[in-house]
Amino acid sequence: MPNISFLPLSPCKLNAMYRATVLLVSLCITWQVALSVTDGLLPNGDFEYGPKPSEMKGTVVTAKNAIPNWEISGFIEYIKSGHKQGDMLLVVPVGAYAVRLGNEASIKQKVKVTQGEFYSLTFNVARTCAQEEKLNLSVSPNSEPRDWGILPMQTMYSSNGWDAYAWAFHADGPEVEISIHNPGVEEDAACGPLVDSVALKLLSNPKRARDNLLKNGNFEEGPYMFPNTDWGVLIPPHIEDDQCPLPGWIVDSLKAVKYIDREHFTVPEGKRAVELVAGKESAISQTVKTIINKIYVLTFYVGDTSNSCVGSMVVEVYAGKDRTQVPYESNGKGGFKRAKFVFKAVSNHTRITFLSSFYTMKSDNSGSLCGPVLDDVKLVSVRNPRRHL
Ligand SMILES: *[C@@H]1O[C@H](CO)[C@@H](O)[C@H](O)[C@H]1NC(C)=O
Ligand SMILES: *[C@@H]1O[C@H](CO)[C@@H](O)[C@H](O)[C@H]1NC(C)=O
Repeated sequence: MPNISFLPLSPCKLNAMYRATVLLVSLCITWQVALSVTDGLLPNGDFEYGPKPSEMKGTVVTAKNAIPNWEISGFIEYIKSGHKQGDMLLVVPVGAYAVRLGNEASIKQKVKVTQGEFYSLTFNVARTCAQEEKLNLSVSPNSEPRDWGILPMQTMYSSNGWDAYAWAFHADGPEVEISIHNPGVEEDAACGPLVDSVALKLLSNPKRARDNLLKNGNFEEGPYMFPNTDWGVLIPPHIEDDQCPLPGWIVDSLKAVKYIDREHFTVPEGKRAVELVAGKESAISQTVKTIINKIYVLTFYVGDTSNSCVGSMVVEVYAGKDRTQVPYESNGKGGFKRAKFVFKAVSNHTRITFLSSFYTMKSDNSGSLCGPVLDDVKLVSVRNPRRHL
């Protein structure tokens, strides 16, 4: 459930689900007021409240503040689920409406945050034209120059055309403006991604557990996941987002990894895990302090998510330059096994990296990428190495 401490209300659009969490009620508090969200949809983050008919021309939104809680610019369309474009039917995953970001279009919202903390945005997006589409994510203020993230949308990971992406940022002020922008300029101004359901989560910095040298080894801390979608959340690589939405870890590759939940996938341990969806192009790593010549034991689960991802899989694990391979035979029905890797540290810092050796595609003819699941990664140093070799 979204934990929203304070919501904009317009008497015409009082939503029963939110009624209980409203702390301050006054007539038509307007959308210019920044609100605080720590784990849930942004106000009107699902775009269910739309422009008045007088603020639209066909599907195109004509006024800057026409979509409650948002400020728009550029070519924005307000799309109802079931809308036909050419021979394509646009279906919206959550509720009945979404926005389409055409040429140079952006949507912005101000939110109250806790300065100094890390946050992660999660949003659903669908590509609608054949072109390469991208989204530019940014927040302001931002103490780092040129700190925006350009997320390419050309690889589709889910079967139905929608993917969820996470993007993390550091709050450099008590209030930030979040912006999602389509930097593209296409011949057809209406070509651009559909965006729905924008949510925010305050990320906690997980403490290292006593029995584990790795932080967030079980991946329980991570971006917001929509309870009503079953396609997980893509965590973009470091090159596109230098603040990883998975605290402790770095997505150290060209492509994303997928964050998955127990509600919709088979997860070996706890509520969350990671699926290595893009072969060697999706890798996840963490660097730990080690003592030279000491022996370390790394244990973890490798499995499949019961999403028709069938075949012979191999997870490659690196500890510095040491490497091992863990084969896993997936029948796509959700199994897992515990694997162990013993290594001797050769440096005072060791980078632990996991990747999938092969590309795998779902056996449901969707052509979507999938791969082995990784969970519950533990690293300990041992006094008596022989017992582990
Ligand atoms: C991304 O968005 C930011 C903020 O709106 C802007 O300053 C920057 O120029 C954009 N980057 C690209 C490549 O479009
Ligand atoms: C770690 O190793 C590097 C080079 O191997 C060395 O320069 C550095 O002083 C070491 N740091 C510690 C804390 O031992």
